[in-house]
Amino acid sequence: MAELGIEVKDLNFSWSSGENVIKSCSLEVPRGEFWMLLGTNGSGKSTLLRLLAGLLTPQSGEIGLLHPVGFVFQNPDHQLVMPTVGADVAFGLVEEKLPPAAVRDRVEEALGAVNLLSLQKRPIYALSGGQKQRVAIAGALARRCEVLLLDEPTALLDPDSQLELVAAVRRLVKSRGITALWVTHRLDELNYCDGALLLERGSLVDRGEPQRLKRRLMELHDETSPNLGV
Ligand SMILES: Nc1ncnc2c1ncn2[C@@H]1O[C@H](COP(=O)(O)OP(=O)(O)OP(=O)(O)O)[C@@H](O)[C@H]1O
Ligand SMILES: [Mg+2]
Repeated sequence: MAELGIEVKDLNFSWSSGENVIKSCSLEVPRGEFWMLLGTNGSGKSTLLRLLAGLLTPQSGEIGLLHPVGFVFQNPDHQLVMPTVGADVAFGLVEEKLPPAAVRDRVEEALGAVNLLSLQKRPIYALSGGQKQRVAIAGALARRCEVLLLDEPTALLDPDSQLELVAAVRRLVKSRGITALWVTHRLDELNYCDGALLLERGSLVDRGEPQRLKRRLMELHDETSPNLGV
């Protein structure tokens, strides 16, 4: 079996209100592969990503993943904290206590990778949504993340920017051997991943070849209401 970048076994999580939102969930993502996580609204995708990132603690089960872990939120305004692009990417390196020249190198390399080097001094407020997502991704790259978790990073983007971002992330994670898990409702993005996982009511109900999952979801979409949420 291929070495794994992410491994989850029999995970259970409930909010204090009671009912389990993650139920006996097990999944694997092979190391260095780009996988997508699908499921209707409320199926538990964001909760699962937060559990993987260590932002929530499960009631039971096991989580194994390579470190460091990078997390890109659906709304980049929730994670960009510094006034300029360069300062924000550098901020994520504070804990590593690197010498200033090393921080500069890492920031420039990461911004170069997401094609934002020329905007290093730009204030965050003067960026487009897609550019903000790229800054958030650069922050994870600068920290040399082994695993990258992205929660609907294209939800705020127009169709052109959306496909541009997914293609850019695919190129980046592939060239760096990063294991990535990308949450999406947009089926056209499945063309860019190595494999996909389908979550229903907190449990994994399907996994595998992206085009097969895409067909399965399109059939469901045809049979029920168009507002399925996937
Ligand atoms: N902070 C919270 N406290 C209590 N319940 C929550 C909290 N956050 C989410 N939930 C509930 O947990 C369940 C799973 O939510 P989650 O956000 O993980 O779904 P999702 O699959 O990401 O949905 P979406 O596609 O809408 O983003 C939902 O029933 C939701 O109402
Ligand atoms: Mg969500």
